[in-house]
Amino acid sequence: MASGERLGRTDGSGPGFFLVLEGPEGAGKTTQARAVADYLRAAGRRVVLTREPGGTRLGDRLRDLLLAPVGGEGCAILPETEALLYAAARAEHVRRVVRPALAVGAVVVCDRFVDSSLAYQGGGQGLDLETLRGVQAFATGGLTPDLRVLLDLPVERGLARRLAEPDSVNRIDAAGVAFHRRVLAAYHALVAADPDGWAVVGADRPPEDVAADVRAAVASRLPVGGVAEDVASGGDRAR
Ligand SMILES: Nc1ncnc2c1ncn2[C@@H]1O[C@H](COP(=O)(O)OP(=O)(O)O)[C@@H](O)[C@H]1O
Ligand SMILES: [Mg+2]
Repeated sequence: MASGERLGRTDGSGPGFFLVLEGPEGAGKTTQARAVADYLRAAGRRVVLTREPGGTRLGDRLRDLLLAPVGGEGCAILPETEALLYAAARAEHVRRVVRPALAVGAVVVCDRFVDSSLAYQGGGQGLDLETLRGVQAFATGGLTPDLRVLLDLPVERGLARRLAEPDSVNRIDAAGVAFHRRVLAAYHALVAADPDGWAVVGADRPPEDVAADVRAAVASRLPVGGVAEDVASGGDRAR
């Protein structure tokens, strides 16, 4: 099933590996994306670390629009508009950044992707999931991650982390706890529907412990014999 979904690896997007970090606010996606990118680079892999929304010049401008606090620089956005703006940023990102990197064999480490739209605009905002999937397919041309890692923790824990750094609180952080609970429930449903496509890592632990589990999940999916597995085991293998 999972290999059938990996159109990106079989339709010309190349020999790379597409890793996506997902999860609620404050779960540690940005922290863990950096950590796993460092780990993979140390293991000799070519790595492109990127994020959504963003990753391109237009995408970063769309990100500013989407995440600015309402009443500050931001304006109220209808859920449908929001879904399309995220998809627009994604269309740019997939074609200008992700596919070219995969084509030359890089590991793309991406902080959020399609499943964020399904969880936030679907689960959180209540938009129809099948309609959203169609929008995603148009935006991505069918590109699917090789592995998504769900960083899983109670929403209150993640929001508390984000609110502890008030300068970075954005429009989404400021949505109510009930919204974020629906988002997390949607993530769990996405995992249940495609368990092979995901690794779930408990994120309510020290960052180093979370990072070790993320590394192990990635090392189990990258091609056998890769240097990454040696590093995952502490570098104590013979070769
Ligand atoms: N495992 C962890 N334990 C405690 N705090 C963490 C952990 N991981 C990240 N943080 C802190 O929580 C905040 C949010 O982390 P971040 O990586 O930005 O999360 P996300 O990108 O998922 O919103 C940051 O201040 C970060 O330093
Ligand atoms: Mg982040």
